[in-house]
Amino acid sequence: MLKINNAEVIYNRVILVLKGLTLEVPQGKIVALLGANGAGKSTTLHAVSGLIAKRGGTVRFAGQDITNATPRDIVRAGLVQVLEGHRIFHPLTVEDNLLIGTYARARRGDRSKLEAMYALFPELAERRQQPASRLSGGQQQILAVAQGIIAEPRLLMLDEPSGGLAPLVIDRILDVAGSLARDGVAILLVEQLVEKALAHADRCYLMATGRIVHEGLAKELAGSDILHSAYLGGG
Ligand SMILES: Nc1ncnc2c1ncn2[C@@H]1O[C@H](COP(=O)(O)OP(=O)(O)OP(=O)(O)O)[C@@H](O)[C@H]1O
Ligand SMILES: [Mg+2]
Repeated sequence: MLKINNAEVIYNRVILVLKGLTLEVPQGKIVALLGANGAGKSTTLHAVSGLIAKRGGTVRFAGQDITNATPRDIVRAGLVQVLEGHRIFHPLTVEDNLLIGTYARARRGDRSKLEAMYALFPELAERRQQPASRLSGGQQQILAVAQGIIAEPRLLMLDEPSGGLAPLVIDRILDVAGSLARDGVAILLVEQLVEKALAHADRCYLMATGRIVHEGLAKELAGSDILHSAYLGGG
């Protein structure tokens, strides 16, 4: 579903942050992208969704070259990113935040998926007419994820969905990701809670300073020395 080949990203004209990154996400699979703070995980997602420019490399999505496509066209094609740090619209109600998710694709203002989201996340149903600012941090994160899901992505990129949440909430979000994958959605998951990510993922890439240093089955990486050294630096 997604193929990143040899992507390069430069910040401030000098700092090479992605140094030739190659990665694939198959349809219906959860792929974890792991690595220490500053490794370039969020940069990778931004480069895919068109939020930052690439200096080199190609990105293909569902058979199409999206290397130079606009973020708008990329999201319309079904590639949806949930940004780090639950970015939702605070003054708007929970329901309006969900409806904004439907604008990401062609189904502008389509209310037919609202009840499905409320069934998945009952805490949102109870608060549907409240401003998002009144939600707890965990509920805001759930809303951010629901906003991504309601867009009916073919590929959903989740950037640290755990972001300071209670373990039970994280498990629920990852379970939902699992059921989306079983329905054929491809998931690219960036997550600091490595064990949880590996428990839910099929495959895994490990990043250190802008490069992939390991790739393999998630269950084989859990507990390995490679994991340890990538997080302690040095790749
Ligand atoms: N807008 C920017 N301008 C300049 N440098 C940046 C910018 N955004 C990120 N960087 C740098 O690029 C590198 C990769 O950052 P990135 O946010 O992709 O890492 P990350 O793996 O997502 O880290 P974290 O786990 O902390 O979220 C870091 O060294 C960071 O300081
Ligand atoms: Mg990040």
